[in-house]
Amino acid sequence: MTASIAELLRAAGIALVDARALLRAALGVDDAYLAAHSERVPGAEECERYSGLLERRCAGEPVAYLTGEREFYSLAFKVTPAVLIPRPETELLVEIALEKIPPDAPRRVLDLATGSGCVSIAIAKHRPRARVVATEIDRAALDVARENARRHAARNVEFVESDWFGALGAARFDVIVANPPYIAAGDPHLEEGDLWFEPRRALVAGPSGLECIGPVIARAHAHLVAGGWLLFEHGHDQAARCRALLERIGFQQVASWRDLAGIERVSGGQV
Ligand SMILES: C[S@@+](CC[C@H](N)C(=O)[O-])C[C@H]1O[C@@H](n2cnc3c(N)ncnc32)[C@H](O)[C@@H]1O
Repeated sequence: MTASIAELLRAAGIALVDARALLRAALGVDDAYLAAHSERVPGAEECERYSGLLERRCAGEPVAYLTGEREFYSLAFKVTPAVLIPRPETELLVEIALEKIPPDAPRRVLDLATGSGCVSIAIAKHRPRARVVATEIDRAALDVARENARRHAARNVEFVESDWFGALGAARFDVIVANPPYIAAGDPHLEEGDLWFEPRRALVAGPSGLECIGPVIARAHAHLVAGGWLLFEHGHDQAARCRALLERIGFQQVASWRDLAGIERVSGGQV
């Protein structure tokens, strides 16, 4: 009996949902088109493109880099190998930030290390009266973030090339959000799955994993208005150490929030 495509894909380790996403990318169509044209036989060039994508997927390349897109907070973001692929757990950071930003007030928001721009753009779209500044050290990532802002007509985000707070002068904000690199160098997960293909600068902080979070906490205090909030994502086992750092610097209302898997994923405090 001939093996079905599903069996072949499974044998190669490709989930059907990924196979479908790659098919859409190879044909340059969306799901609605696939449903409406399910009888159409792909042409030779389309088959070649599809098998090329499947081969790259078999070699481990992340689906988001192959399709050039990933959904975050119900918005489709362009992604390239210059940026971290937006993660579902980072949506928690956006949710908590939105709780701290009233819809009707012109609050100033800073997104440190914006990558694809997913966090800053999601906040900007849900809080059109806010003025969002998004910083990033990597120029190629900034290009992607700017393109995503254009794609979503997020006109209330300004992108700034900056080493953390370096280019911001004495600017102060009502809310600072960050998803900084927080993986320890030498963590074996770095050699696995999508992480292996993602920019090291987006992932690795230093020997302990807290080498970016520590300075961000220390410097954020001087960039917040009275009553302002710092909120940041961290690793699954870093919450207690992050709360201790926040308390040592003098933050109030220090807390951690759990993601859908029940893991303390975001911590923060108020000035
Ligand atoms: C974990 S990624 C987060 C990207 C995006 N905010 C997200 O949640 O998907 C961390 C980002 O920090 C940036 N980065 C690393 N070191 C930096 C620095 N010194 N100053 C500013 N950004 C930095 C990386 O280029 C990367 O885009």
